[in-house]
Amino acid sequence: MEWINYKKVLLPDIPDFHTIDVYEDAGDGYKALKTVLTEDKWDRKAVVDEVKKANIRGRGGAGFNAGLKWSFMPPKKEGVPRFLAVNGDESEPGTIKDRRLFEYNPHTIIEGAIIACYAMEMDAAYIYIRGEYADWIDMVQKAIDDAYAKGYAGKNIMGSGHDIDVYLHKGAGAYICGEETSLMESLEGKRAYPRSKPPFPAQKGLWGYPTTINNVETVGHVPYVIRNGADWYLGIGAEGHPGPCLYGISGHVNRPGVYEYPTGMLISDLIYKVAGGIRGGKKLKAVVPGGSSVPILRADMIEGIRMDANSLRTVGTMMGTGGMCVIDETVDMVKFLLRISKFYDHESCGQCTPCREGTGWLVKLLKKIDSGQGEMRDLDLLLNLCDTMEGKTVCALADAAAWPVRNTITRFRDEFEAKVKNTVYTVA
Ligand SMILES: Cc1cc2nc3c(=O)[nH]c(=O)nc-3n(C[C@H](O)[C@H](O)[C@H](O)COP(=O)(O)O)c2cc1C
Ligand code: SF4
Repeated sequence: MEWINYKKVLLPDIPDFHTIDVYEDAGDGYKALKTVLTEDKWDRKAVVDEVKKANIRGRGGAGFNAGLKWSFMPPKKEGVPRFLAVNGDESEPGTIKDRRLFEYNPHTIIEGAIIACYAMEMDAAYIYIRGEYADWIDMVQKAIDDAYAKGYAGKNIMGSGHDIDVYLHKGAGAYICGEETSLMESLEGKRAYPRSKPPFPAQKGLWGYPTTINNVETVGHVPYVIRNGADWYLGIGAEGHPGPCLYGISGHVNRPGVYEYPTGMLISDLIYKVAGGIRGGKKLKAVVPGGSSVPILRADMIEGIRMDANSLRTVGTMMGTGGMCVIDETVDMVKFLLRISKFYDHESCGQCTPCREGTGWLVKLLKKIDSGQGEMRDLDLLLNLCDTMEGKTVCALADAAAWPVRNTITRFRDEFEAKVKNTVYTVA
């Protein structure tokens, strides 16, 4: 099978790849940056076009074509600064991949960020890293210092006349800081309240200046696309959703971890062949394929389904961050949903009524059902609550809270009804 012989790109098995010397020698590190800064054919538009052609689908959750997003930046005005924000807040439950890049390949993030800044005529990149990532914060700062020392960042990069700074910013310890507009508020030193859109960040972003926000993994793909070309990238993984992918597999598997394989892997191969199958020889009950907010799949829905946007759409779910949570037959789905809903209730910033009140009511109703006090109409009330939350708030946290509720109740209705009726639910 093709994926068994897959040669890892982002997390190669090379000792000390996180150091600048090994990144340069063993991985052609900073050659892509040198190429775009020195070769005539790589003017800014050519870089944006190549990234757009490669169709790097954003790895922060929404899967938007990175090059297309870059092309939304308005024409540069003299004297008006512009910024890149690299999103490494990584706080969605089940999402565990960006930390591996920080640890094993920080220079591809830095090189990709500087190439992005060059392509979009930006002055600086801010790498926003989750505040709890203490060890990785030090490692990434060291990598940035080493890039400056070698002349790959800062003033007059490699004698090219281009000045681009790279800063590391420690996150403020809340899930909402990963939402792109609250990330900018946080970077500006304010409370991380999401901003209403429009204006979009490309028009009015950091400190009111044009800004693009990309996930760290998205940016980390860029040097490889420039070095090897968009056609090489398009040849990896699934059509329409190409490239290498960092799958974070957690939950009831024998070998949880972050695995690099092409997009488009069969969910079943990831669970049984890559992650060693279900712990204790138990049966699979459900899979959340891309972080806690994406629609859950019952075990009987995963046959033939692959980890790419098109395949996942056929079963009403999404790739999200590729953070796959595997759930075995022992899990009580009411308790599972209650646990997830508590997270979103805790993390709501409280600005919008449907989210502030809605997340609290989801928890109250789920607690009622879980404690055996539930009524059948509570299930419909929960679904009605989701209607009042989805698409009606400043940011997508309310949707992220509502989707698991809607989909877990719909796809495991028997189990919820059994709890309401105080009958024992048995796994088929
Ligand atoms: C509540 C919330 C939290 C988010 N957290 C993250 C995060 O930790 N990391 C991330 O890259 N994107 C996160 N996002 C998505 C970002 O808003 C944004 O879409 C993403 O960083 C864009 O990068 P991409 O286009 O490269 O995927 C979050 C969105 C929401 C609504
Ligand atoms: S949807 Fe929730 S988290 Fe987002 S701005 Fe509104 S209250 Fe805050």
